[in-house]
Amino acid sequence: MKLLHFGDIHVWDRTPYPIEWYYPKRWLGPINLLIRRAKRFPPALRQQAVDAVLQQDADVVLFSGDFTNFSLESEFREAARLFAPLREKWGDRLIAIPGNHDVYTGRSVRRQLLEKHLPWVRTERAWTVELVPGRDLIGVHHAVPLWVRSNGVVTEETQAAVSQELSASRDRGNRAIVMGHFAYATPPEHPETAEHRLIGEEAFAKVISEASPDAYLHGHKHVRWALRSPLSPTTVCLNCGSVSMTHSDPDKHAGFLTFTWGNDDEISHLTRIDHRVESGDWVPSPLPVSDVAL
Ligand SMILES: [Fe+2]
Ligand SMILES: [Fe+2]
Repeated sequence: MKLLHFGDIHVWDRTPYPIEWYYPKRWLGPINLLIRRAKRFPPALRQQAVDAVLQQDADVVLFSGDFTNFSLESEFREAARLFAPLREKWGDRLIAIPGNHDVYTGRSVRRQLLEKHLPWVRTERAWTVELVPGRDLIGVHHAVPLWVRSNGVVTEETQAAVSQELSASRDRGNRAIVMGHFAYATPPEHPETAEHRLIGEEAFAKVISEASPDAYLHGHKHVRWALRSPLSPTTVCLNCGSVSMTHSDPDKHAGFLTFTWGNDDEISHLTRIDHRVESGDWVPSPLPVSDVAL
């Protein structure tokens, strides 16, 4: 089975919005956008990214969160337009979870803008889809609206929910891969910052380690990598990076991942597909898995 993993498309809209000015992120976010994000996420690259994904022959397509930048209705609407051809091609084989930017403020969550415009996105705290007989995809949703920071939070509720899905999968004798938005393990050259990390990551890593799924897929940190961590030595951690960001570092510049989840229970043919600025092509190359020390 060939899987495609992408994320962090970050559709943004500069439209001023006179709402929630008491929410620090509602004015810190636009300042950040003006200074940095608008250049980092050129709108034209979004469409090119979707077109590049559309050309792939994957059996299952996974999006690990951050459709939008501010959880604005206009952003969700544009994300729904962009993803429509992917839904048309893959139907229920296109599977996605929210990122922290899709639950940006309490008001956006209460208004259920994500559910309204992208009703097919899985918003439960944990869930399982049996992709083919014997092989489960388990999703976990750690994103919560926070006043200033961009952390994920491992709550008791989420831990209980994901543990239950993992043990039910194991009880059925199935193999599993897990998809979340946040990393619990990072390479030493890309440490997570205090304001972006998954709060309670050690507890989540323990649950993963005990269940030993074949892979943990995530994004959030806009860097592509594949690593094996001592926290969960039998699980390959895959970060797809951003599909639509520009950067001089190829690991951070737009791209996505594909891999095969084969009969031998291993992740194989791990491939990074990188956007080339000069040609506009999306170029595949093998992605080695690095072993990181604690
Ligand atoms: Fe992101
Ligand atoms: Fe994120």
